[in-house]
Amino acid sequence: MCGIVAVTGYKKALPLLINGLEKLEYRGYDSAGIAIINSETKNVSCNKAEGKLKNLKNNLKNIEIPGTVGIGHTRWATHGKPEVKNAHPHIDSSGEVAVVQNGIIENYQELKIKLQKEGIVFNSDTDTEVIPHLIQKELLALRQLKLESNGSTLLVALRNVISDLEGSYALAVLWSGAPEALVVARKQAPLIIGLGEGEFICASDTPAIADFTKIILPLEDEEIALLTPLGIEIYDSNNERQYRNPISLQTADQVSDKKNFKHYMLKEIYDQPDIAKYWLEKYLIKDLKTDQFQINYSFDTDFLNSIERIDIVACGTSKHSAMVGKFLLEQFSGIPTNVFFASEFRYSPPPLLCNTLTIGVTQSGETADTIAAISMEIKRRSSIGDRSFKPNLIAITNRVESSIGRQIPNIIDISAGIEIGVAATKTFFAQLLSFYGLAIKFAQIKGSQSNENINQLVLELTKLPGLVEELLEKHNESSEKLAHDFFNIKDVIFLGRGINYPIALEGALKLKEISYINAAGYPAGEMKHGPIALLDKKVPVISIATPGQVFDKVISNAQEAKARDAYLIGVAPQCNGTEIFDYLMTIPSTNEWISPLLAIVPLQLLSYHIASHRGLDVDQPRNLAKSVTVE
Ligand code: F6R
Repeated sequence: MCGIVAVTGYKKALPLLINGLEKLEYRGYDSAGIAIINSETKNVSCNKAEGKLKNLKNNLKNIEIPGTVGIGHTRWATHGKPEVKNAHPHIDSSGEVAVVQNGIIENYQELKIKLQKEGIVFNSDTDTEVIPHLIQKELLALRQLKLESNGSTLLVALRNVISDLEGSYALAVLWSGAPEALVVARKQAPLIIGLGEGEFICASDTPAIADFTKIILPLEDEEIALLTPLGIEIYDSNNERQYRNPISLQTADQVSDKKNFKHYMLKEIYDQPDIAKYWLEKYLIKDLKTDQFQINYSFDTDFLNSIERIDIVACGTSKHSAMVGKFLLEQFSGIPTNVFFASEFRYSPPPLLCNTLTIGVTQSGETADTIAAISMEIKRRSSIGDRSFKPNLIAITNRVESSIGRQIPNIIDISAGIEIGVAATKTFFAQLLSFYGLAIKFAQIKGSQSNENINQLVLELTKLPGLVEELLEKHNESSEKLAHDFFNIKDVIFLGRGINYPIALEGALKLKEISYINAAGYPAGEMKHGPIALLDKKVPVISIATPGQVFDKVISNAQEAKARDAYLIGVAPQCNGTEIFDYLMTIPSTNEWISPLLAIVPLQLLSYHIASHRGLDVDQPRNLAKSVTVE
């Protein structure tokens, strides 16, 4: 979380920084700020504002800051409240050094106390502020060694400072003593350098770079770089100079158009039929010789043959997609599969078993918990000599150029196009599709399903674009009306079973994160073991009931809720049994395997309309960020 951007070159820095920050606002929007080396005064000019970027833009409306070197930041608060004093950039006491940082400096208290004892006064509650003070201290020491005031000196100063920092960070530093230079560094937080002609832009993510250049050089972990209009020097943690070729930005869709929708979230829910269409075209290939469908994943799939079990690590919505994935991989493909919260896996991993595939699921590709869990798994598996314990990895992501894309060579690109709404919708849908592909692939490799069953599932998947389009048409207005009746509720319970239990969890997460209504998802059969105590006529129960193995059970569980006066909303086809619902959000009657891809759509629409009706900022809900790059 937090987005950083930094530029050096010959163009005015201010508009470039603002443009970059606009593209990074999804990473946090508690406050924003910029610092520029003023080319007239040669001082650092800094401006910050609490709240969204528009407040900073307002502050700067009539201000001209001449200068071509600058840094900017959009914040998701970790240490210190979202107030102006805690907004980045942070400046040292002399006003010469400015720093923006994304990450957490875990030992900042210790460093701060030491600096305070030396007489340094702190102006913020952040962890970051120690960095400019430490750099200034290093610069003073280097000056005594008669080192010149230039970018190389700043590089040495920062290198000395980061050797004392614990935690994870991406940071950019400028110093009025070297007015053309920028120094940047990263450790377990993303930082990408965009290469223009005689100019560079660094940013936490590619959308901030895409308008400027399509040639990028992602900084590798623990690297530090000096950038001036004349060129770039990159060093690794052993201070060895690094040389490597830049790469081209691959994702064409770096910018998203809201079209005529009121919010990005609604537009992204409406993108789903196209995503299904695109997925079918890209990943489902008919082998004309055998007349069988194949899943066209671009990595070498030979290794899948040896896989005996699967561990999946993910967070939030991605974890819910992984839970549907587990159902498919176990029940359709016959492979024992476990899903872990990435944040828990890292510190309490399961005992190592051989021939295991580890899948990281992250739409952003930057979630620190997921990246750290995968790194840990790679490390502990690589330390065992036995080949059957080696790491077998797949990443499921929307951002192939992200940290997970660089960490894992086997990528399933969910190809959902950039998602701007902080609440994940279309990326969830696309992650689900990726698991269907993987389940089909494994079922074919392992022979766990007949060709007939596989073809039946494929056939159902090919109907998706039309079915989802129908759902959108049917439910957009009706869920708006339902939202009108329910926008003031305090608690909602979501129930689902089997393959749709994760959809109950996802429905609840969507509602709570954008409408701030307390919502919880349960396996329908568990309700009677405790949550039923919550029920009365003020607590609506939304029950996902799709014909199949557990349909009757789900209906019985819904009956139990109705007997406690709960208002019952069903997400189900119009069929026998569903008359018990007070309100029915109908979904097509299909093969149970694909029901999650349909059941989620009305739930997304309902959450959206409730939040919108409450007048909330649907695309940027409070306290959240699109990409959670701190643990
Ligand atoms: C919910 C949401 C979050 C993310 C979670 C993981 O709408 O967006 O719960 O799903 O932070 O993010 P990624 O998928 O980027 O790893």
